[in-house]
Amino acid sequence: MNVETLIAPIGELHTLAGKPGARKGEEMQNTSVLRNAAMAIGEGIVQEVGDAKELLRKWSSVPRIDAADHLITPGFVDPHTHLVWGGSRAGEFIRRCRGESYQKIAAEGGGILKTMRATREASVEELTQGILRRAELMLRKGTTTLEIKASYGLSEEGVRKELDAIREAKRTLKQRTVVTFMGAHAFPPETTREEYIELLEAKLIPFAAKHRAEPAFNDVFCDEGAFDVRESERILQAGLRYNLRPKIHSDEFKVLGGTELGTRLGAASCDHLLQSGDAQIEALANSDTIAVVLPGTAFYLDKPYANARKMIDKGCAVALGTDFNPGTSMICDMRFVMGLAVAKMKLTPEEALTAATVNAAAALEAAVPKLLGTLTPGAPADFCIWNAGSLEELIYQFALPLSPEVYCAGKKV
Ligand code: NIG
Ligand code: FE
Repeated sequence: MNVETLIAPIGELHTLAGKPGARKGEEMQNTSVLRNAAMAIGEGIVQEVGDAKELLRKWSSVPRIDAADHLITPGFVDPHTHLVWGGSRAGEFIRRCRGESYQKIAAEGGGILKTMRATREASVEELTQGILRRAELMLRKGTTTLEIKASYGLSEEGVRKELDAIREAKRTLKQRTVVTFMGAHAFPPETTREEYIELLEAKLIPFAAKHRAEPAFNDVFCDEGAFDVRESERILQAGLRYNLRPKIHSDEFKVLGGTELGTRLGAASCDHLLQSGDAQIEALANSDTIAVVLPGTAFYLDKPYANARKMIDKGCAVALGTDFNPGTSMICDMRFVMGLAVAKMKLTPEEALTAATVNAAAALEAAVPKLLGTLTPGAPADFCIWNAGSLEELIYQFALPLSPEVYCAGKKV
């Protein structure tokens, strides 16, 4: 065992130790919390976790960090962001606040297509800088792993630029990064629906699958005004032929059957789920697909929240994400999202932490290390030291600007 640093004593340590992988239903309540604990780290991973007294004796000669009055959690895993985009949608946000609908603005050429145009006009360098800037904001809020969707290019040239920018950003990003290709975010105006699906099948998906940004997933926006269930299935099947695992935006505005499609295809996750009812919740509960809920989006759009309470009560594995994007969620802070989950969706603080760590990691499947989202021996030493005494305090102060000390792979960043 090569221990380089001992963190001891720790006031409250949530290790999330438990069975490997996603926690379902009532398992989400157990965060395996230790008080007066210690954690030994080295070689980028957690080496040992235990009682402070015992580990202080055992590792008395290694450098020590005192966290007696602090809370330590795993670094947050944000499994859903659209981090690469050009331009701004500030004007649309204000119009929406004054009563215009998301769909009306989109139908007039705004919405995703407005960002598509700005993204296509941006240089790779500008897109790269945008990713790095946003990822830095997230890091300061405790997010140590993030997923990035390439979702606004919607053409051969546009997709190439987005993926090049992600690849470039990955060279300097401090966080662990997982890439998702989402060519099926909207239909671009220059083709018919059928032509665009054929372009996705024949060119964009094969191109993305072998790009050096290394996407692991293929996502589709299955909703009214976007891709229907039949189209979504064609696109997800095309991804599977290139080893891109399915993800799906489903039940955000309308229940079309996207959640049933996702669970049938063994999707890593079904995301949004604002409108999901009993049938969709049951499909998720009976599957290994993670239910990723994004309460920041409901908050930002002023829509009813997903019924995550019922999802957990029915046995689903629920995860939380920010959905950070220029249209429906200018929110990068997982702790704010956890606060919304507790205040608005009636999760317990423990369920919210499970959803923001282990279960979020499970939504990224094999694209992340097995024990990610936990602080158990062998897990990546990705964690936050919070200037708060307990998980309750952390959630209670959810909109205060706390800045944790953040460690990625054992290094303070
Ligand atoms: O996750 N739902 C589809 N996509 C985004 C919105 C993207 C946009 O409006 O630019 C979402 O909410
Ligand atoms: Fe999204």
